[in-house]
Amino acid sequence: MLKNSLFLLALVVVAVSGDYVFPEPDGPFRVTMTSEELVDQARPDPFNSSHPRRLMISRFTPVPRKQCQKTCLVQYMPEVVAREEDANLLAFLKTDEWPVGILSQLQLQLCCEVRPGCKKKSYPTLLLGTGLNTTRLFYSAMAQNIASTGYEVIVMDHPYETDIVQFPDGTIIYGGNVPADKNSTGPLIHALDARLRDTSFILNELGVQYATDNPSNSKVGFVGHSFGGAAAAHTMLNDTRVVAGVNFDGLMFGPVLNAGLGRPGIPQSFLLWGSEGHNSTADTAWDQLWETHDSYHPGEWMKELSMKGSVHGSFWDMVLIADVAGLRENPSLYGEVTGARVMEILRAYLRDYFGMALTGKGEGLLAGPDSKYSEVVFVR
Ligand SMILES: *[C@@H]1O[C@H](CO)[C@@H](O)[C@H](O)[C@H]1NC(C)=O
Ligand SMILES: *[C@@H]1O[C@H](CO)[C@@H](O)[C@H](O)[C@H]1NC(C)=O
Ligand SMILES: *[C@@H]1O[C@H](CO)[C@@H](O)[C@H](O)[C@H]1NC(C)=O
Ligand SMILES: *[C@@H]1O[C@H](CO)[C@@H](O)[C@H](O)[C@H]1NC(C)=O
Ligand SMILES: *[C@@H]1O[C@H](CO)[C@@H](O)[C@H](O)[C@H]1NC(C)=O
Repeated sequence: MLKNSLFLLALVVVAVSGDYVFPEPDGPFRVTMTSEELVDQARPDPFNSSHPRRLMISRFTPVPRKQCQKTCLVQYMPEVVAREEDANLLAFLKTDEWPVGILSQLQLQLCCEVRPGCKKKSYPTLLLGTGLNTTRLFYSAMAQNIASTGYEVIVMDHPYETDIVQFPDGTIIYGGNVPADKNSTGPLIHALDARLRDTSFILNELGVQYATDNPSNSKVGFVGHSFGGAAAAHTMLNDTRVVAGVNFDGLMFGPVLNAGLGRPGIPQSFLLWGSEGHNSTADTAWDQLWETHDSYHPGEWMKELSMKGSVHGSFWDMVLIADVAGLRENPSLYGEVTGARVMEILRAYLRDYFGMALTGKGEGLLAGPDSKYSEVVFVR
């Protein structure tokens, strides 16, 4: 299925056991990780038409615990990416509180050897969309957590928008071309369209078919953080293979606000999940999505959650890095809920949400408040 446009990057196995290892989730599955380049020969790059669109994805695949015969520590970010992220974080945070150098010392504990002869099972696919100008590598630990509950998770870079993308041949494409200006959404919509085409191409390469061609292999989910949440909805509006979406604390833009999700015969569900205080009372675009939903698609499943003690930065790896690096004393950036707890909550709720939306189970934890997860508030 993945054609010759595919390259496997050798995993960089770090020999020494470092001080900074992300906690390995203790779910029913261990997880393998590969990085791949995909080239869409049919499409000029939307930010640089002199070459075809080339993408990088990371793929996180569940492995039943007893089928994984070895785990390895794997470098979180190559040096060149870590240096760029250090610089971007220092500029963004406008403080010197960021511990420069820590990113290149972080490691993931992953399954690196699967028992030979094991039958390959397939798992439902979830796409993971990043924040604007943010490398996919900043979502690897979150992707590992989600994959450990039994989903294959694909994290996507979007070159020229993503801050830095390194390809297997050494080429680096820098981002920062899409200003985050709410007053002038033209460039943001252009970037959403690019993400939509990237995502549809990735689904083609993964062999996901349209329901009209093959109903049994036609349903994937899309989880997005920040701009990735807007990209999830924008993609669902056009590509009906994405039947379920989650927006973690992202602003929303574009035609979906007036169209809503779901079409006759093609149900689509959507979960808005904001940080504390960011909800459809405070955010007019979220409220507009609800109005559209209630007017045109009242039968489609949509809910809105909040997480007490969370902030915008709670929904990506930074919430774990904050613990590892001792940054918890700045709750405005990293929230009050620890990384371990955020991941525990996300594992449980995403497992149940996509269990419902992709495999036809009941609502599970999405049915209503649960005292085991008292941070989670049902807003709407
Ligand atoms: C566009 O891509 C070409 C390579 O095909 C590169 O030489 C050039 O610098 C790129 N332009 C921009 C603006 O990034
Ligand atoms: C976005 O990424 C570019 C390239 O890495 C960087 O120069 C710029 O500072 C970044 N912008 C923000 C707001 O982080
Ligand atoms: C956006 O518009 C509002 C209201 O006109 C203005 O107060 C704000 O400064 C503008 N923001 C930017 C980034 O231009
Ligand atoms: C998705 O976008 C493409 C390109 O604009 C268009 O040809 C296609 O009809 C759209 N599909 C749907 C289902 O809206
Ligand atoms: C929604 O946001 C508003 C404004 O930030 C806040 O006052 C309110 O408590 C929030 N509602 C919930 C249910 O979290």
